[in-house]
Amino acid sequence: MFSTSTKAAWWLATFFSVLVTAEMPTQTEAEPEFLQALENHTVTLGRDVHFTCVVNHLSNYRVAWIKSDSKAILAIHTNMVALNPRLSVTYNNHNTWKLRVSNVQPNDSGTYMCQVNTDPMKSQMGHLSVVIPPDIVDSATEGSSAQEGGSIRLTCTATGLPTPAVLWRRQNNKPIVFRHDGGREKKVVETYRGESLELSHVQRNDMGTYYCIASNGVPPTVSRRYQVEVHFIPQVKVTNQLVGAPLGSDVELQCYIEASPKAMNSWSREDALLSDKLAENPKLRVKEAIVNEYSLWMNLTIKSLALSDYGTYVCASVNALGKMESQVSLHRLELSMNGFGAEEPMVSGAAWQRARSSPTGTRPAASHAQYHHLTRELPPQIYALVIALLRYLTF
Ligand SMILES: *[C@@H]1O[C@H](CO)[C@@H](O)[C@H](O)[C@H]1NC(C)=O
Ligand SMILES: *[C@@H]1O[C@H](CO)[C@@H](O)[C@H](O)[C@H]1NC(C)=O
Ligand SMILES: *[C@@H]1O[C@H](CO)[C@@H](O)[C@H](O)[C@H]1NC(C)=O
Repeated sequence: MFSTSTKAAWWLATFFSVLVTAEMPTQTEAEPEFLQALENHTVTLGRDVHFTCVVNHLSNYRVAWIKSDSKAILAIHTNMVALNPRLSVTYNNHNTWKLRVSNVQPNDSGTYMCQVNTDPMKSQMGHLSVVIPPDIVDSATEGSSAQEGGSIRLTCTATGLPTPAVLWRRQNNKPIVFRHDGGREKKVVETYRGESLELSHVQRNDMGTYYCIASNGVPPTVSRRYQVEVHFIPQVKVTNQLVGAPLGSDVELQCYIEASPKAMNSWSREDALLSDKLAENPKLRVKEAIVNEYSLWMNLTIKSLALSDYGTYVCASVNALGKMESQVSLHRLELSMNGFGAEEPMVSGAAWQRARSSPTGTRPAASHAQYHHLTRELPPQIYALVIALLRYLTF
């Protein structure tokens, strides 16, 4: 018997000379033949994989494994030639050889050949593709903020094999808005492809959660969330600047606030903070209802109006960028009809405390909308009288 190293040397010589110098089988014997094709494999980094080569009628020939792109001989029979501890060959003592690659690395990708040293030699090939699931490597902050009109840039660097595609989308499929030319031009998309998302001339409705999603066909797809904040001076609007209600009735004063960063919101009267007195005054209740990231309703209910409750109420909001307030004048409504007016407050007038372009969908639902077209024409006091008269006549 030859020693292992002698055998290996002999085989190397054989493969390089492409000559079979050892005992030739007689021509009457059956030639070696492959029983099945070598597989192709797509394997995730770090996993193990094997190629199976099945040869019948091998006779005195030998099976070798070759990495065909580098021409490196990896193994002859079960003897390893390549100095790679992650490679091994097993033989089932019949007709099957398996080349195992454990803990696959990117440079294991390529074409592998199972070869028999006949003349001419016989071989078959299989491909190994090593893939790496996507990863997002950015260590950058996951939140970004700017003042309204400013710019925000979010970046998401993804690695993987093949190179992942990076896609941006917003929570709840809200539109991503790109503004150009000082905000006059805009392009609205649901998704954006690219590692860097640049938002300029940001508006408050650009605020919210953004996701970067990296995928390359190798599961799992990964994503990262980014919080975008747009800051601005609070805006405060009362639904009705003038509210009339009869003595003894309950009234709700409605105030709509937009603010970011978070603001301190309050109802006050004659410099006294009503919210501070809520605990002591069972007649008052402030209810807040969140509309979205930066908008809320803050409604003040005053129960069973007394004479001292009439007057001016102020809804105010203050954050790091400034303070805004809006007033409601609550006045007494004289009614001669029994019970009428007690169930709901009389309403007149509604206006933002300053001109603004309201983003669609954020305008408060105006109660008593049917009266609003009148409001614009008439001074509120006269309007209130007209409405009182109209109501009186209708009943
Ligand atoms: C392996 O891939 C090659 C090239 O893509 C192809 O020609 C061959 O048929 C594949 N082999 C198998 C067993 O699918
Ligand atoms: C393949 O990559 C592995 C891990 O990065 C390394 O240890 C090995 O030396 C490389 N082999 C070759 C042939 O480049
Ligand atoms: C305040 O009033 C508005 C307008 O009627 C209403 O939409 C909102 O739900 C109210 N909020 C609360 C907390 O009652």
